[in-house]
Amino acid sequence: MIYFLKKKHIMNKFISTFLVCCCFFIFANPSYSAGEAEKIKDFEFSFEGPFGTYDRNQLQRGLQVYTEVCAGCHGMKQVAFRTLGDPGGPELEPKQVKAYAAQYEIYDSETDDYRDGKPSDKFPVSGVENAPDLSLIAKARAGFHGPYGTGINQLIKGMGGPEYIVNLLAGFTGEEKEQAGVTLYENKYYPGKWIGMAQPLWGDDVEYIDGTEATIEQQAKDVAAFLMWAAEPKLNARKEFGFTAASYLIVLALLLYFTNKKIWANVKRKQV
Ligand code: HEC
Repeated sequence: MIYFLKKKHIMNKFISTFLVCCCFFIFANPSYSAGEAEKIKDFEFSFEGPFGTYDRNQLQRGLQVYTEVCAGCHGMKQVAFRTLGDPGGPELEPKQVKAYAAQYEIYDSETDDYRDGKPSDKFPVSGVENAPDLSLIAKARAGFHGPYGTGINQLIKGMGGPEYIVNLLAGFTGEEKEQAGVTLYENKYYPGKWIGMAQPLWGDDVEYIDGTEATIEQQAKDVAAFLMWAAEPKLNARKEFGFTAASYLIVLALLLYFTNKKIWANVKRKQV
């Protein structure tokens, strides 16, 4: 009887914990509480999956979109120009990195004056006060708004920050409203639906040198891939290392298995 009571007690505890967990998931999840934003659509990216790597041409196109469109408002203060030449990134030539950095005017605290950017400098901070810095945005938005908080879509479909960015950039409805003196723009995918950023991409905003057609979606995908690289520049190297490490472990496991068999072979034979 006592045993039974105890069991019931445990069962009750289990059920109440389960219910608390459910409530937590539903209420702590912004995409449920905001209620209105549409589900993020999945897009294929070259860097998804265990062997996926960045597509250099796509990163170069994304850099172009960032520079010509987004950099007017957004900064990327944690990314140094020189990393644009690193392997696994946009891989610009050293001369191109230099020329790219020189387009920017950088404030030099030593001379208390502005000078042309150098490869060792970082991208400037956001020029528009409330525009967030984009250095880490692709990872910051990986599992919070966007793909439904639980991270399940991220795990199964590889959906994350880049998908959120593509959906966001292509999700403007054209509606706008004034609220407390600021203009807000309706966006199907922004949690709460009204964002303080005007639609930045309209199609043909840049002219790609590789001849790719600059549709809204294409530009959005390219800049999303570029922002993913900015947030996680060592992804290629990390995956390569992971693959090598896993292969070593498999070889080691096989060696240990056969060594073990060999060591005990005599003992086992005697027992038979
Ligand atoms: C005219 C200025 C302007 C331009 C150009 C612009 N943005 Fe924004 N962006 C903003 C502002 C302002 C916000 C903050 C909006 C808010 O908090 O409601 C923002 C927010 C964002 C966010 C964050 C959304 C979130 O979940 O909080 C992302 C991502 C973003 N912009 C990406 C881009 C990209 C990529 C480009 C280039 C294709 C771009 N923006 C061009 C002004 C701009």
